[in-house]
Amino acid sequence: MNKNSLQPLIWKDGTVLILNQTLLPDELEYIETTDPQRVAKAIKTMEVRGAPAIGVAAALGVALAAYHSKASSVESLRKELLSACETLWRTRPTARNLFWAIERMKNIINKEYSSTQDLKDAIIKEALKILEEDIETNRRLGKIGSKLLEDGDTVLTHCNAGALATAGYGTALGVIRAAIESGKHIKVVATETRPLLQGARLTCFELMYDGIDVTLITDNMVGYVISKGLVDKIIVGADRILKDGHVINKIGTYTIACVAHTHKVPFYVAAPLSTFDLKSKVEEVIIENRDPSEVTTIRGVKIAPKGIKVLNPAFDITPPDKVSAIITEKGIAYPPYEESIKKLFETL
Ligand code: MRU
Repeated sequence: MNKNSLQPLIWKDGTVLILNQTLLPDELEYIETTDPQRVAKAIKTMEVRGAPAIGVAAALGVALAAYHSKASSVESLRKELLSACETLWRTRPTARNLFWAIERMKNIINKEYSSTQDLKDAIIKEALKILEEDIETNRRLGKIGSKLLEDGDTVLTHCNAGALATAGYGTALGVIRAAIESGKHIKVVATETRPLLQGARLTCFELMYDGIDVTLITDNMVGYVISKGLVDKIIVGADRILKDGHVINKIGTYTIACVAHTHKVPFYVAAPLSTFDLKSKVEEVIIENRDPSEVTTIRGVKIAPKGIKVLNPAFDITPPDKVSAIITEKGIAYPPYEESIKKLFETL
């Protein structure tokens, strides 16, 4: 499936190209920048979004800081890079991959170097490694997860956990792509995913781009579609997975999981190990609250009375008892998750 050339993030000799996802599906336009602050802004405003993609974007942001630095000593370069890390760290609070990638960059920054060039080279190398590894990981995860899909399955997905949400290939959509690559006939049902319509705008766009059969539904059709047996399985991505199997993902995921549970439809989560947070307790996870205007407008058009009170949490939490399995690049974890997730990390 080489036709799938959608690349949300590209490094080109000291410039980062960010596919502006706020313009999709109407325009395929890249933001070109040499400025880590601009990368931070792109993450904040969701020009680039999706847990693995924002991790990769942050790593490339640090690489830009290194590439363009005029620092004359290793110590001053280190300071500049740590300051870039700090800015990128404060962009979005929920996706674990962002912090995982910045922590990896910090480990490289804090090593010993005999010249600024050595430190610059190490930083750029690590950022590109994070980008390349992400695509590799998704391909591995996709192949492993594809065994859960049968020929003829219709799979419901939520938000966008595809090539656009990663460095390429996707997690939930990677599983679907891998099943199709292995010869299975798979159809997809995509939820629109209000408020920002990642399902309608991005998932539908990238699946149609690849020639994959996809049908769009509004979020409030999920109960009907599942209860009528119109889908065989559900696969979503994740922004953070805790060690006991709690899954934090796009708002609306929990509702889908509950309906799936009631109707005994398998509910799968596909995510790389970089999404796992083995330290936090569920009550410690920060759920991002975004601007009310995302709810009161749709793509700039006002849909609610002026002054209306609004809630806009961007993510929700699905408890482990609603999750049938978690697909990773190291294998599939089944309940009880405390044990199966621990095993995934033991074999690293
Ligand atoms: O707010 P977003 O668009 O960044 O949220 C994205 C999601 O919730 C995805 O499902 C998740 O990041 C997994 S992406 C492989």
